[in-house]
Amino acid sequence: MEDILKKLRIVALEARNFSYAPYSGYTVGAALLCENGRIVTGSNIENASYGATVCAERTAFFKAVSENEKSFVAIAIAGGVKDEDPEDFAYPCGVCRQVMREFCDEESFRVFVVRSEDEYEEYLLKDLLPKSFGPNNLQNTSKNQ
Ligand code: THU
Repeated sequence: MEDILKKLRIVALEARNFSYAPYSGYTVGAALLCENGRIVTGSNIENASYGATVCAERTAFFKAVSENEKSFVAIAIAGGVKDEDPEDFAYPCGVCRQVMREFCDEESFRVFVVRSEDEYEEYLLKDLLPKSFGPNNLQNTSKNQ
């Protein structure tokens, strides 16, 4: 497991190269580890209509889910000024945390925020998004019965 997690962090750093960030100049890469061992990458994709921008983490999740991956173990995220090594840790935005919450077990899903191959922080989803609203809150609504 430690080997694959190290690889995940390296792949997140590499995925920054495929970012499309002409407006902010801030490139983010993400690498999402599926339960079956597959790694799905993502990068931030900006838009001239700024609100249409998608973060790297959500790119990775939506790619994965749209290809029938539904079980996830961990995500690694790396971000910084384009063409430079990350200066600090790029924590996932609130919307991306909520998307993680939709598809991941908050007690066990691991989030790695990566500055370099050997510099990273690790969190559990439940600590990044405490007291969250999730799929379980809608289990007893009339439509779902
Ligand atoms: N960004 C991400 O890709 N992930 C985050 O969690 C935070 C922000 C991107 C969006 C935008 O392209 C750029 O970083 C600056 O906000």
